Amino acid sequence: MYYSDEIIEEVIGRNDIVDIISGYVHLKKKGSNYFGLCPFHNEKSPSFSVSQPKQMYYCFGCGAGGSALTFLMQYENYSFKEALEALADRAGVKLPEEGRTVRERRQELLKSKILEINKLAANYFYYQLRREQGKGAYIYLCNRGLKEETMKGFGLGYANKYSDDLYRYLKQKGYDDETIRESGLMNVDEKHGMYDKFWNRVIFPIMDVNNKVIGFGGRVMGEGSPKYLNSPETKVFDKGRNLYGLNRARRSKRNHQILCEGYMDVIALHQAGFDQAVASLGTALTHGQASLMKRYTEEVLLTYDSDEAGTKAALRAIPILREGGIITKVIHMEPYKDPDEFIKHLGAEEFEKRIAKAENSFFFELRILEQGFQLKDPQEKTKFHNQVAKKIAQFEEEIERENYLQAAAEKYHIGFEQLRRLVNTYVAKEQWTKEAPKPKSGMTKKKEKPEGRSQSQKLLLTWMMEEPNIYPVIRGYIGPEDFTENLYKTVAQQLFDQLEQGDINPGAIMSHFEGEEEQREVASMFHTHLEELNSKTEREKALKDLLIKVKKYSLEQKTKDASEGLKGIEKIVEGKKALEALQNTHISFD
Ligand code: UTP
Ligand code: MN
Repeated sequence: MYYSDEIIEEVIGRNDIVDIISGYVHLKKKGSNYFGLCPFHNEKSPSFSVSQPKQMYYCFGCGAGGSALTFLMQYENYSFKEALEALADRAGVKLPEEGRTVRERRQELLKSKILEINKLAANYFYYQLRREQGKGAYIYLCNRGLKEETMKGFGLGYANKYSDDLYRYLKQKGYDDETIRESGLMNVDEKHGMYDKFWNRVIFPIMDVNNKVIGFGGRVMGEGSPKYLNSPETKVFDKGRNLYGLNRARRSKRNHQILCEGYMDVIALHQAGFDQAVASLGTALTHGQASLMKRYTEEVLLTYDSDEAGTKAALRAIPILREGGIITKVIHMEPYKDPDEFIKHLGAEEFEKRIAKAENSFFFELRILEQGFQLKDPQEKTKFHNQVAKKIAQFEEEIERENYLQAAAEKYHIGFEQLRRLVNTYVAKEQWTKEAPKPKSGMTKKKEKPEGRSQSQKLLLTWMMEEPNIYPVIRGYIGPEDFTENLYKTVAQQLFDQLEQGDINPGAIMSHFEGEEEQREVASMFHTHLEELNSKTEREKALKDLLIKVKKYSLEQKTKDASEGLKGIEKIVEGKKALEALQNTHISFD
């Protein structure tokens, strides 16, 4: 069951792709397109482009591309229908109920059941903490300095010592094994069957920005391994797209967020009045998390552990935040390891001072970099200066580069002009590599000659999209039926229709494809630049050759298709005539 084309087009038409993608990716306008760092692969310079007139995106680096719909499918892992529903919702378009397939309804049902189970489990753990058997856990949390009010606010709980209590509770609530298993709250093995994943641990429910419980962390009380056990990823828990505490921090009045590593850090900070704290939960920060923060704040202060691992993690997080368009600073907690310990020893007021003294992330990076060089040795010093210049060159805005240049020159006693020259050589290098992106999809290679059936069909379609004014010239010779490859046939049918009506709408064409690979392919067609041919004569000849090729392939195919019977033969004769006419015609752009 599908939604009608009209509905799909309306939904797409009522949303602007730039608005939608801006919610996830930091975009900058450059010429008629917007550019940003591709959220689908790791990159340092932006090759991800969004076109407002075409309502499409395309990454010249990894080939990801499509419409607003495709973007949501790729980014949010939505199905086609989920993405359409999200867009409809956003634009206030009401979708007919029957548009969803049985499978999708089942998936949605499963998701909502997992959320129900999580909620039940969270309540169950919460209740256990306050019973006799939870006493040890309660005391543990008190000893860690948590007030009852804080425990309540974060919904902390306790998983008791019996290994199947929660399982039995959920069964009794009527959930089947399969659904319970999907919640990630159980371990399953052949010998024991299904049993609780968490037992005898303090429980930290993890909530998404909408306060839905999506997963859990459980800490041993005292020593033990692993210290924390966490829910696996499930249909509702995507670790790279959530931050612990963000459900509260998003409402903070502060104009920055504090990013730390652990559950206890967030909780201790909130208890001390720093309601702007969130945690990445010990894993490396992702681009997804950076763009999530960017929705709520402009500035992030890092409070990663002050040991070597924490410093490394901070060095990895800084560029990700920077690329996400977030101003980043580093809070120093010496002599303490993490915010929890710091607050316990020095209190909130001291922490506030450290916030005020937070170090610009660029200087933090330089300071760590500097430690790797013996600056007394002239050779090492030169190397260091080169590294500094290289880093400064990475800032895209000239004014930003100038400011950092000045600051770095002063701080490290480097001659300003000398450093500037160094920076400029790196800037030039950056530009040079940027201007020659290496596209992966074959079609974007400018020089590539169209080879074979599908390449020619694709090229012709691209040409028609890029230059709709060739349509009147070609429609006498070629029709959508000449496109034999499945995907191109569908595109051709749509495109010819649209051209006939004088209005190209790539988004509508895109919406005929639900598979990611197909959408990617279609997007690449819309974002291909044709080989530049200088003279009109050259272009006319190229188009004619291409038309002949496509027509020939089409005839070959029709001849092969015995099933077409008499009608088929008529078509072949017709086609041959058209081809002959084509060969004897001068294709003209006038
Ligand atoms: P830390 O080891 O820094 O722990 O891990 P912590 O937050 O200071 O915890 P406490 O104060 O000893 O209770 C930071 C974060 O890394 C994740 C957890 O999210 C933790 O909060 N982690 C750590 C795990 O997931 N598993 C582990 O075994 C350890
Ligand atoms: Mn800690």
